[in-house]
Amino acid sequence: AAAVGFLTVSSVITMSAPFFLGKVIDVIYTNPSEDFTYSLTSLCALLSGIFLCGAAANATRVYLMQTAGQRIVKRLRTTMFSSILKQETAFFDKTRTGELINRLSSDTALLGRSVTENLSDGLRAGAQASVGVGMMFFVSPSLAAFVLSVVPPLAVLAVIYGRYLRKLTKMTQDSLAEATQLAEERIGNIRTVRAFGQEVAEMEKYTNKVDYVLQLSKKEALARAGFFGATGLSGNLIVLSVLYKGGLLMGSAYMTVGELSSFLMYAFWVGISIGGLSSFYSELMKGLGAGGRLWELTERKPQLPFNEGITLGKDTFRGALEFKNVEFAYPTRPETSIFKDFSLSIPAGSVMALVGPSGTGKSTIVSLLLRLYDPISGTITVDGFDIRQLNPLWFRTKIGTVSQ
Ligand SMILES: Nc1ncnc2c1ncn2[C@@H]1O[C@H](COP(=O)(O)OP(=O)(O)OP(=O)(O)O)[C@@H](O)[C@H]1O
Ligand SMILES: [Mg+2]
Repeated sequence: AAAVGFLTVSSVITMSAPFFLGKVIDVIYTNPSEDFTYSLTSLCALLSGIFLCGAAANATRVYLMQTAGQRIVKRLRTTMFSSILKQETAFFDKTRTGELINRLSSDTALLGRSVTENLSDGLRAGAQASVGVGMMFFVSPSLAAFVLSVVPPLAVLAVIYGRYLRKLTKMTQDSLAEATQLAEERIGNIRTVRAFGQEVAEMEKYTNKVDYVLQLSKKEALARAGFFGATGLSGNLIVLSVLYKGGLLMGSAYMTVGELSSFLMYAFWVGISIGGLSSFYSELMKGLGAGGRLWELTERKPQLPFNEGITLGKDTFRGALEFKNVEFAYPTRPETSIFKDFSLSIPAGSVMALVGPSGTGKSTIVSLLLRLYDPISGTITVDGFDIRQLNPLWFRTKIGTVSQ
């Protein structure tokens, strides 16, 4: 709220600047009298003071917005991370690590910026654009009407072009993400890649992906070049035509030099604000996309409970294990059944070894006992309690494992 207050102050001051500067110019042009120096000096001193306040308000606004944004990002990251860690094991079998890391690092930052800095810049640009247009009409209605008749068709063109550009940008980013994913997988599994002597083949695959990124980037660069060339040119042409029309008005004494200057400065402001508004819009869209992906994950309920259920007292917990008619398949490969009607009873206090060929499911038994996964049917009990009733967090502290 404070930030918005400062934003208003600094915007009001920035927006009044052209008006007062126009007055200064008029003073310079029309007052060759005795108190000319005095009135010019006092006007300039007053304006400097006002500008100083404006600068301070703007600086405070930027500081407040940025720190608020970072606080939001921090909170998003911590809730994200804890919600990721609480997901069931099968979730991690299905979701790529790189994707989760992306959510944590860039999506959170994007959303944080979008709802603070971007929002404040957008508000500012919107306010400035509307005030600027109003002031243009206030200073010279006929000139303003002229400008507004030229701008909308150009703006429509710019919007269409901007959309095309955005589509290209998205394609480039997607293909870059693909290349990065490939690199991440191969680097993460370098031992496998090396064992099969696939380094050269993988290098080629990566080069192909990156080549594609380059091709898209070239297309994007061309589009961008055209876009910026055209917008710069049309901006200058508009200024030129305003000068021409304004000069004519001035010649017929409808306008002073100061008014024309104010008008031009407002026109510039409006132009800049509209540019700001369009970048606000695209940032907002990005932020909304990131936000959607984030909510999807923070709102996701883990399929296995994380920290709920009963815990057994010291005297009831003995450690008698029983698997009864267990049927199981890994959620990622539901068609490959690992167990069908599997039963096993291990009395408390006994030592038992499970022996079998590789891939027959010995580690899977331990995973089921740890409740990393739930069986499709059948029960696993500890001292007569179904492990689905127990608090998994507590139960796992009672089990010691050494993985392969
Ligand atoms: N996370 C998983 N997702 C899908 N399938 C899996 C997963 N983990 C193991 N499997 C499959 O389940 C089957 C049993 O694997 P498990 O690791 O339990 O065997 P194991 O008896 O421990 O073998 P080893 O003696 O090699 O350790 C194998 O066919 C394996 O490919
Ligand atoms: Mg094993």
